[in-house]
Amino acid sequence: MQMTDLLAKKRDGGALSTEEIEFMIRGYTRGEIPDYQMSAMCMAILLRGMDERETLDLTMSMMHSGETLDLSPIHGVKADKHSTGGVGDKTSLILCPMVAATGLKIAKMSGRGLGHTGGTIDKLESFSGFSTAISEETFFRNVNDIGIAIMGQTADLVPADKKIYALRDVTGTVPSIPLIVSSIMSKKLASGADVIVLDVKCGDGAFMKTEAQAAELARGLTRIGRLAGRKCAAVITDMDQPLGYAVGNAVEVKEAIAVLRGEEKGDLLELCLTLGACMMVEAGTEWSVEEAKLALMQTIEDGSALAKLAQLVRAQGGDARAVYDTSLLPQAKVTLEVPSEKEGYVNRIHAEKVGLISMHLGGGRATKESSIDLSVGVVLHKKVGDAVQSGESLATIHASSSEKAQEAARMLLECFEFSAEPVTRPAFIKQIIR
Ligand code: URA
Repeated sequence: MQMTDLLAKKRDGGALSTEEIEFMIRGYTRGEIPDYQMSAMCMAILLRGMDERETLDLTMSMMHSGETLDLSPIHGVKADKHSTGGVGDKTSLILCPMVAATGLKIAKMSGRGLGHTGGTIDKLESFSGFSTAISEETFFRNVNDIGIAIMGQTADLVPADKKIYALRDVTGTVPSIPLIVSSIMSKKLASGADVIVLDVKCGDGAFMKTEAQAAELARGLTRIGRLAGRKCAAVITDMDQPLGYAVGNAVEVKEAIAVLRGEEKGDLLELCLTLGACMMVEAGTEWSVEEAKLALMQTIEDGSALAKLAQLVRAQGGDARAVYDTSLLPQAKVTLEVPSEKEGYVNRIHAEKVGLISMHLGGGRATKESSIDLSVGVVLHKKVGDAVQSGESLATIHASSSEKAQEAARMLLECFEFSAEPVTRPAFIKQIIR
């Protein structure tokens, strides 16, 4: 078999066979197929597409390019969640303890943040001592004992995706549905959960800009998951403004704790309830999304979700006192209010720009190697639809110096757009795909 023949076939709109896809992924992972040929193949796939059988074959070949996690030592149904990446997305910190408090097992692999989007591992490291570098044995034991564990992605999980994603990033080939589906689902399938719930973002802060594109991606992801024998559901959500109020690391943990305490309601809670309810219905522990939401709300009302977060933090070496006393989380040296220079109704908050401000403050990584400051970030006080008076604070900046805080404040003013007329809040949960 020759890669040049496969390239010509895809360039002319043909479908690659199962054997051809295996040959290509095995050869590229081993370094036998060069980057320039794989780049050309990614572009051919972006332009010509792949049918469902090809996408499934690509996903399975990528999944088998490295180690896969066998979760059979864990008793019961294991659930996992994936988000296509958002600004201020702290849902895992809320959803996972809530679902685990209902008795469903959460065995989750998470990543670190890159660019303007944050990662669950970084956020969890706001608890002093918390580690996601745990052995498989500890991971299994914790899920069996307390119903929840979160570990970092091992280096050997889907090595093909690490190479292909890096190539796509620099060759303009990220926005291809079969390439995104195979990238996300190969990692989720390799992580071993029986139930996978996907939060597919659309809008300014996401790479699927329209609801129609997000729905196509969500259908592709759930179909491949089901064809691979897993239970799958997806929720399409709006990313035209940051999720919730806080963007950063410790500030997001603090907000997540407020939700678990029942002190913050709104879109963030609604998203966690919806994702969690989909997990429970797919797992068969509840019959309907509405019943499942009530069961999840109960875990907030009786304090069991907050207690589950404390158990998770303690079991992975973290200081669980911070769950009940958030002053123990990293605190920024400087805080600065950002008074509005305009008045009216908030029409838009550019999510990606707010994410970039948090990154510039030191809260996100420009490259994989950068280290981050867990204490910095932005806490919004106004969201789309809110009325604002001139001089009223739009947000608080948490920074390591007053120069950085001033610069961030200037940038933040540019993230807000106002309307003189009242603005209707957009529907946040756009579709549930089950
Ligand atoms: N996230 C991934 O893991 N892969 C993609 O291709 C896009 C988003």
